[in-house]
Amino acid sequence: MGPVILNHMSETIAEIRNKAAASLSPKRQQQWEQFLTPMPVAEQAASLFTHSDNPVHILDLGSGTGILGAVTARQAAPGSSVLAIEQDAQLASASELSLAQVCDRAKVINASVFDVLLDTKFDRVILNPPYKKIRPITIPTSRGDLKITNLYAAFLVIAIQALSEGGECVAIIPRSWMNGAYFKDFRGWLFDECSIDVIAVYGSRQEHFKDMSILQEIMLLKVSKRPQTNSVTIYGDITPAHSLGSQSSVQASLNSITLGKDLILCIQQQDSRLSEFKSLEARGLWVSTGKLVWFRNRDLLSEDKPVDGYPLYWSDNQNGLRTQHPIECDRKQWVTSSATDRNVLLPAGNYCLVNRFSAKEQLHRINASYLSSDVEFAADNKLNYIHQGTSRRTMPLDSDVARGLTLWLSTTIIDNWYRQISGSTQVNATDLRQLPCPSKEQLIQLSRLLPTDIYASQSLIDQTVGGLFSWTKAG
Ligand SMILES: C[S@@+](CC[C@H](N)C(=O)[O-])C[C@H]1O[C@@H](n2cnc3c(N)ncnc32)[C@H](O)[C@@H]1O
Repeated sequence: MGPVILNHMSETIAEIRNKAAASLSPKRQQQWEQFLTPMPVAEQAASLFTHSDNPVHILDLGSGTGILGAVTARQAAPGSSVLAIEQDAQLASASELSLAQVCDRAKVINASVFDVLLDTKFDRVILNPPYKKIRPITIPTSRGDLKITNLYAAFLVIAIQALSEGGECVAIIPRSWMNGAYFKDFRGWLFDECSIDVIAVYGSRQEHFKDMSILQEIMLLKVSKRPQTNSVTIYGDITPAHSLGSQSSVQASLNSITLGKDLILCIQQQDSRLSEFKSLEARGLWVSTGKLVWFRNRDLLSEDKPVDGYPLYWSDNQNGLRTQHPIECDRKQWVTSSATDRNVLLPAGNYCLVNRFSAKEQLHRINASYLSSDVEFAADNKLNYIHQGTSRRTMPLDSDVARGLTLWLSTTIIDNWYRQISGSTQVNATDLRQLPCPSKEQLIQLSRLLPTDIYASQSLIDQTVGGLFSWTKAG
């Protein structure tokens, strides 16, 4: 059953939303990503628009119950108008009802935003789009075709293209677009196309969409159609419990929060002790992902060591600072000699392995382990490996560099750095390449202070590294 038909003019916008939220069809909710914005978050989002004494033309994309368009219209000058687009017929009716409360120039189109030709421009665009990953699509823009891999980015491209000169767009989106390779082209397009004005990240994943069980880290993004503003307003940890105006923010230039040519956005103040270090990439190190995708190479996998076979490493083989092989686990520990024909083997030598997935709640986002292999080997695709080659050529590290790097990546200061950069479960190669890294000489020194083949507690690792850089007295 879909949402209850809502036909009492006396219902407030929040009541319309809450009723619809309580009666969403689970199937459609999942299919169309119907996570309806609660009133406190809607009000915070709309509060980001600059007040105008003149009527504005408002667009709400994927409007659900129309809460975002309605709250925006409620605070706009008389004579303002709203266009809402929503593909779910029942939610589109709810949008009509919400908008009728606040605006007599409202229109709701019950269709997919991808099927509506927007032939006018808008002064205010507001959206909380579906967040789903999609198979890559290409969206034509005035700056050429843009490859998009997520619905929310596709909605944002449409939203920003619909802005009039000087127009403003506020979006409630995950923070995943700020880092990683998937969104690199999108970031480039966004920075060229408009000014990034406000970035506000919700601190808790439980608080903002209480009745909707959203597990993503969510943020508000405000952009406007004009040259980049000198200072972006950044709220690093907001709560819907208070107005944005009463929460702390900092100002920073877009340049100062953008890392490397991948344009990774780092909005949190990073530990100043890291500011002296160049990036891993600038140190001549490279991060690649393991080449073996097991379900495409099932026929290669072997439980027992095959004649002329090769070791296969999974994240299960990471054990503290060490990488152990073979181990007792569900994962087959070997690949057969046919692996030589599949381009999945890496040269013998020394590496630092880093897991590719971890959750915010885990003790470590980054799990680094030292690997020394005197034979060629395969690494599962869910592992990153660090070497001194390029994207095309893997070149193993010196043993001391690999061990020093393993210790460095296992420190709390680096784990915190990574947590500031990434809100998703991925620990991706693109982000790791921007990680602050000591020189090779310093890594070698580090490797001599603490062995990687024994268990080392977190405090011992932190103290040892801190001791080398005079942050703390070495233990
Ligand atoms: C995350 S919900 C947010 C709804 C509403 N904007 C709000 O903030 O409460 C996304 C909405 O987009 C709608 N939707 C999903 N795909 C759509 C599409 N292709 N075109 C139009 N609406 C779509 C869903 O039905 C859902 O109502």
